[in-house]
Amino acid sequence: MRYRWWRLAVFVSALSVPLYWLYLAWQFALGPDPGKVLVDNLGQGALVLLLLTLSMTPLQRLTGWGGWLAVRRQLGLWCFTYGLLHLASYLYFLLGGELSRLGGELLERPYILVGALGFSGLAALAMTSSKWSMRRLGKRWKALHRLIYPIVIIVLLHMLWVVRSDSARWFLYAGITAVLLLLRVPVMATALASVRGRMKARTKLK
Ligand code: HEM
Repeated sequence: MRYRWWRLAVFVSALSVPLYWLYLAWQFALGPDPGKVLVDNLGQGALVLLLLTLSMTPLQRLTGWGGWLAVRRQLGLWCFTYGLLHLASYLYFLLGGELSRLGGELLERPYILVGALGFSGLAALAMTSSKWSMRRLGKRWKALHRLIYPIVIIVLLHMLWVVRSDSARWFLYAGITAVLLLLRVPVMATALASVRGRMKARTKLK
């Protein structure tokens, strides 16, 4: 398998981050409300992984290195896994496992419904990420996987609702998203490829 060590490094990095947070929680090093810190960290981790997944194609266009695309699916699946852990830790730590409180929660904190919408989209992408689904869905696969763009907007809305007073972090993520979405516009994608061509020509001249 090509890029075996690179794929393994991505796998180990993505796995070790939540394990480290769990270790910190076990050591009572996450402050007075470790449950909330875990929910927040996992939510933010899922968003970072979503943005990393989106940046693999532009990075490939810019550098021509196939390793970026080799880990794109894995990063998407990690994003879904972090999202699942974010949801599970919300249900366990913040809701105390009392699912009967969910109705009241949704009325009080409608951003949870927005998060659930984003999560359902991620689940649809994860369920159809295999080569088998790709073959079965044909052209529809690409159309379905374009859902990643509305999903990232939905997740940003979910986050904005939560972090209202501390919006500096939100603006950073929104800015990165805007750049990544812009790079998908065909004109920009072509410009990116020509930057690579020019860089290649310059290194040949040296
Ligand atoms: C059913 C699905 C979801 C539920 C129930 C949910 C629930 C929550 C809750 C309760 C919070 C606020 C916790 C607090 O009080 O500080 C939160 C924050 C957040 N969530 Fe979600 N969420 C869901 C889906 C997602 C998804 C799919 C993502 C990203 C891909 C995400 C990213 C975030 C982020 C970035 C924050 C802000 C964290 C921070 O303040 O640092 N959420 N979510």
